[in-house]
Amino acid sequence: MDRIRIVGGNPLVGTIPISGAKNAALPLMIASLLTREVLTLENVPRLADVNLLMRILGNHGVDYRIEGKRTGDGPYAGQTMHLDASDIVDTTAPYDLVSRMRASFWVVAPLVARMGRAKVSLPGGCAIGTRPVDLLLMVLEKLGAQIEIESGYVIAEAPKGLRGAEITFPKVTVGGTHTALMSAVLANGHTVVHNAAREPEVRDLADCLVKMGAKIKGAGTSTLEIEGVGSLHGARHAVLPDRIEAGTYAMAVAMTGGDLLLQGATAAILPGALEILAQTGAEISSTSEGLRIRRNGSGIMPVDVTTEPYPGFPTDLQAQFMALMTRAKGTSRITETIFENRFMHVQELARLGAHIRLEDDTAIVDGVARLKGAPVMATDLRASVSLVIAALAAEGETLVHRVYHLDRGFERLEQKLEACGAEIERVSDAG
Ligand code: UD1
Repeated sequence: MDRIRIVGGNPLVGTIPISGAKNAALPLMIASLLTREVLTLENVPRLADVNLLMRILGNHGVDYRIEGKRTGDGPYAGQTMHLDASDIVDTTAPYDLVSRMRASFWVVAPLVARMGRAKVSLPGGCAIGTRPVDLLLMVLEKLGAQIEIESGYVIAEAPKGLRGAEITFPKVTVGGTHTALMSAVLANGHTVVHNAAREPEVRDLADCLVKMGAKIKGAGTSTLEIEGVGSLHGARHAVLPDRIEAGTYAMAVAMTGGDLLLQGATAAILPGALEILAQTGAEISSTSEGLRIRRNGSGIMPVDVTTEPYPGFPTDLQAQFMALMTRAKGTSRITETIFENRFMHVQELARLGAHIRLEDDTAIVDGVARLKGAPVMATDLRASVSLVIAALAAEGETLVHRVYHLDRGFERLEQKLEACGAEIERVSDAG
């Protein structure tokens, strides 16, 4: 199993191209199941989660062709994927595939919408607390599907098709909103979704569905209106830039000091996080090429943060922000409201010398003058990258174990950081 070795202390200076967003690419790929025609997606990141979803879609009968698979020295371009779901040969998504990535459960919506039936294993994914699917199933039931749970599988059936309905989410859910969109676009009649997620990735999915012939109003707001259509057609769509990847490198340079251009990123996709980052002392400016983040000399100011649905501070940047706060000049409080048990990075950060205590859903971080490198264990996708950030600012060597978590969501992490002056390398255990 690979590890990542980091020797901390270098400032980050240079340009990091921001990849296409994992959390947009996954639902967009799944949306290919809604049409018999080819869906072409550009700027798809090269990630383990994307490859796994290709296997899952392949199992349903989706043919795919990929261009630009290798990364060259030239300017960054993600891969272009042509997805052809003209024949869906199997409506079952088996446990051994779905259990490895929670988002793959979302195939249930297009399968029921187009084929009238889906049998999908209950999901797995990051170990960050209980992550139920009750609201996703509520959507399908409201739209007229019969749901049964049998031996760990959800069986959803709507032999006569789905029908439009009014859906009110009791809490904001990204996956629930994707499910509502992908089921209602082919339902018979009108659907209204209240308290919909406003995340840019939801909007990206809606934009692509509209290109495919769907009728959707209100994408990016908390009320969606969808008029079902008989069928969707092929389209071409570019995945939006990854705001979590951009936010992660922004936190990294705020911690190590230096000057980074995050190529392709825009301030518009990171509203909650950029304000907070500016309060910590980072200088942020927008250029025609992307976002520029600098911190020179001054100390890191402590700032309290509470995670919230978009446009608030994202839960997917909570661990990275905590890493930054471990070196702040004072105490900060970080409250997690989206997922319970999303603090597994706390004890690993403590191994690097951080002072953090937990009180219910809040981490209280007393900034320290120095962190020191140590062997640490990655626990989930975002937690593991917080360890990388902390290690970049720590004295001496850190070895991050279980880096497969990083490969799920960060494209060419070591190369991108190394090109900006970090001492970082992947060490293979094979030898
Ligand atoms: C997506 C993102 C993930 C991000 C999260 C919140 C992808 C692939 N993943 O995950 O990176 O951290 O949004 O921004 O896009 N909930 C229920 N019942 C449900 C569904 C969700 O109670 O049926 C709860 C969850 O436990 C959580 C909250 O709703 O407390 C929000 O979860 P949700 O937005 O659905 O997260 P995901 O879509 O799984």
